[in-house]
Order: sequence, then C-alpha cells, then structure tokens
Amino acid sequence: MALRHFLTLTDLSPAELEQLIQRAIELKKEHKARKTSVQFPNYVLGMVFEKASTRTRISFEAGMAHLGGHAIFLSPRDTQLGRGEPIEDSGKVISSMCDIVMIRTFKHEIIERFAANSSVPVINALTDDYHPCQLLADIQTFVEHRGSMKGKQVAWIGDGNNMCQSYIKAAMMLDFKLMVACPEGFEPRADLVAAAGDHVEIVRDPVDAARNSDLLVTDVWASMGQEEEKAERRRKLSGYQLNRTLVDLANPGALYMHCLPAKRGEEISADLMDDPNTVIWDEAENRLHAQKALLEFLLNHAAA
Ligand code: CP
Ligand code: NVA
Repeated sequence: MALRHFLTLTDLSPAELEQLIQRAIELKKEHKARKTSVQFPNYVLGMVFEKASTRTRISFEAGMAHLGGHAIFLSPRDTQLGRGEPIEDSGKVISSMCDIVMIRTFKHEIIERFAANSSVPVINALTDDYHPCQLLADIQTFVEHRGSMKGKQVAWIGDGNNMCQSYIKAAMMLDFKLMVACPEGFEPRADLVAAAGDHVEIVRDPVDAARNSDLLVTDVWASMGQEEEKAERRRKLSGYQLNRTLVDLANPGALYMHCLPAKRGEEISADLMDDPNTVIWDEAENRLHAQKALLEFLLNHAAA
C-alpha cells in the first residue's frame, strides 16, 4: 500500500478523520482502564524538534511507550541538522532506522522535503503553516463533550496562524462554519480562505464571530519564531482577547479551547483559563489519545 504521511489534516479523508477520532475515544477508555494493547513492540518513532514543546513531545513519547515502542528525541542542537546537513539526506537516513517520524519545524516545505525522501510515514508536529495533530485533539474534545461538529459554528479569535489555518481545513472536512475574527494584516492565508468557500468568513469584530458559535478558539498572539514581533503583536491584537463577555455571547453550552501554552491576560482571560469547567485540560490530554490513534493508523497502513 502507498506510504501515508500526515502533513496536513487533508492527508486523511473526512471519513478517515471521523474514524480516527472514534478510535482515539476508544483508546482513551482503554488507557484509563490500563488495557492498552502493545501493538507495536520495538517500533521506533523519531521525533525531530526544531522548536520547543511540552505537550507534543510528552504525548508522542508516552504514546509510543503505551503501544510497546520507543521514541527518540532529536533536536538540531545535538544532531547534524543543526550543522546544515540537508533535510533530504536527513530524511533518507532517519527513516532508514525509524519506523515512523514526527517533525516540528519552521517552513512547511521543510517537512514536505523530508517526507519526499522518507521511506516511513511522516507526521507534522507543527509548522509555521499548520498544526494538524492539535486539531485531532480539539475535534476529539468537542465530539466527547458535544457530539458531531457538522453544522456547528466555530469562532477563531486572534491571529490567523498555523492553528487557525488547520481549523480552516477542519471546517471543510467536517462541514462546520469557521468565523475568523482578526485585525487587518493577521488573516490566514488567502488561498486557504478562498478554497474553503462558505465554510470560512473573516470578520473584524470578535463579537460577530462569537455570536451563534458553539466553540470559541484562540492561540498565542506571537507564535514560535515570532518572538521579535511580540510587542507589536500585543498592541495590534489587544482587542482580540477570548474572555467571558465573548463566551456569554455564544450559544448556550458553547465550549472554548486553547492549544496551550497560553498567556493569561493576553489572548485569553485568566478567569476562563482557571474556570473549573473548562475543557482546555481535556484538550491537552487528548493529544495523547488522538496521536496514538494516528500512529496506529499510519503504522497499520505502512505494514499493509
Ligand atoms: N499545543 C502544543 O503543541 O503544545 P507544545 O508546544 O507544548 O507541544
Ligand atoms: N501557534 C503556536 C502554537 C503552539 C502550540 C505556535 O506556533 O507557536
């Protein structure tokens, strides 16, 4: 069977995405009952991190351990990637010794070039353009608490970044409406917005996005790699905080999410973060279960 990668959400079909979410829910139950089956003994996941991570590293490393395999953490500081070894050569070599690879990097084309030279499945663990693994966890969390996302409305509040762009893909695949509230100059990529048609609408006022929404989502104003723009972004995005006023304007029972790490008092208010009923911590935990379902899907395909 042809090698499957997971570089963006649309590397899965909508049906495969829905099945994967159901499998993640199942794996979560098995994990809680301490019944995870050791499906991939001695399998090795290579984890290339060119940016920092807490959740992604832990969830992939723990996930591989649960499945009976092993994970190797590779950072540019300690590998030849940091000394300029071509990404194509790295793809050939790393994939010759690992059964599956995940990469967190800057430009999206880096992961495409790696995948083109890889003999094993490659997973996007965040690029400047997309964060599809986080979407798996977000979708799982919504489905667990509220059921299908079909026909629902999601409000994206703030920077039209990698997370927002993955939400655009999810809106098309799962048939929900995404209202993106962002200031001028912070829109998601125009080609993605155009391809999404009626599924995406850009508005300037967060109130217009929040009204009639079933889920509100935000993310940091300065993503990794944008550290020097922090002050300017804080100034320009200051009217785009996800807070109680916005949540109260949404539909009754609306959820809100943040992929974390979060800056309380900037893109999200402290009271929302610290609300005992928030699903943000489920969202973080679901990275583990959703990625185990993803590893299983890709490894089973590679073996078929
Ligand atoms: N949400 C997320 O990807 O977190 P980390 O950067 O900690 O991996
Ligand atoms: N948009 C953020 C997400 C972090 C998980 C970033 O790229 O830094």
